[in-house]
Amino acid sequence: MSKKKLVFSGVQPTGNLHLGNYLGALKKFVSLQKDMECIYCVVDLHAITVFQDPIQLNENILETTAGFLASGLDPDKSIIFNQSSVSGHAELAWILNCVSRMGWLNRMTQFKDKAGADKEKASVGLYIYPNLMAADILLYKATHVPVGDDQKQHLELSRDVAQKFNNDYKCKDFFPLPEPLISKNISRVMSLRDGTKKMSKSEESDYSRINLKDSADEIRKKIKKAKSDSEPIPDDIKMLEKKPEALNLLTIYAELSKTDLKKTIAEMSGKDYSLLKAKLTEILIEEIAPVGKEIKKLLNDKQQLKKILLKGSEKANVIAEENLKNIREKVGLI
Ligand code: AMP
Ligand code: TRP
Repeated sequence: MSKKKLVFSGVQPTGNLHLGNYLGALKKFVSLQKDMECIYCVVDLHAITVFQDPIQLNENILETTAGFLASGLDPDKSIIFNQSSVSGHAELAWILNCVSRMGWLNRMTQFKDKAGADKEKASVGLYIYPNLMAADILLYKATHVPVGDDQKQHLELSRDVAQKFNNDYKCKDFFPLPEPLISKNISRVMSLRDGTKKMSKSEESDYSRINLKDSADEIRKKIKKAKSDSEPIPDDIKMLEKKPEALNLLTIYAELSKTDLKKTIAEMSGKDYSLLKAKLTEILIEEIAPVGKEIKKLLNDKQQLKKILLKGSEKANVIAEENLKNIREKVGLI
């Protein structure tokens, strides 16, 4: 068995890349590319599990690609491509649909959240989405998967699918069991308006999130309006857990200033939230505004972005085809 380490992760092209994507995923993608082989995918087939306007989807695929590059991903170091251009993802997903179990999918909380009250009306794609995610990872025999905490359950399913395939087809260790890489300090960035909900692309209010494309002015306004607390910042983490919006602001500040929450609380306790907000605004503008500017600049040359995706797809396809040949053989297909 090859013991080679390989990183794979994906981001859906559904618009509004935000601070949660940046701290939970993109920043980690960038640090991993320094010393590991990495494959990063714009997962367009995942996006269409919920209807997407075709023109908007096309734009969002390029914008997400620009977001990857603007955050620091380098197409000479990492393979960067869009999922639908490597047909092996869909082919392996079908095979894995036949390995995965209904009972496993029925436990997926993201499906329950996204499908809402009327599950009968959800697309079949949305239901089997975790099997496509398993296919994305296993197609490359990836060993490490950097994601935010919300993807933990899907990763566990990918491991179960890999293990069942290895057992069913009597090929121990054929698929490595992928390891999630989830940041301990900031696994889930929360909404600026409701600290019990994660920051999300689809939340109606734009004030709930910092978008990577936000200008310095927009960042300033959003942090000013962010929910906090009327009492000074407490010195006790237990107290803060009862104030999720305040805890979220402190956690984001700690992460961006490359320190930990404990030290940040020690620095800030007894002070007013306006001071934290001022410092947070400053550091956000310093780190996020240049990323947004770069995204906008990259979007001026869409042909170049398409070229990068095409080159990445060609590289990804070579690995995918080689692995698929063995997978088809294991299953008994001719
Ligand atoms: P998505 O935009 O849902 O495709 O997510 C892309 C990546 O960003 C995944 O690894 C997610 O786990 C991560 N992510 C999305 N939202 C958040 C958040 N609020 N906090 C931390 N990570 C997040
Ligand atoms: N499901 C992930 C999300 O919504 C995106 C994704 C698709 C992914 N395939 C993947 C992440 C494979 C990691 C590995 O964020």
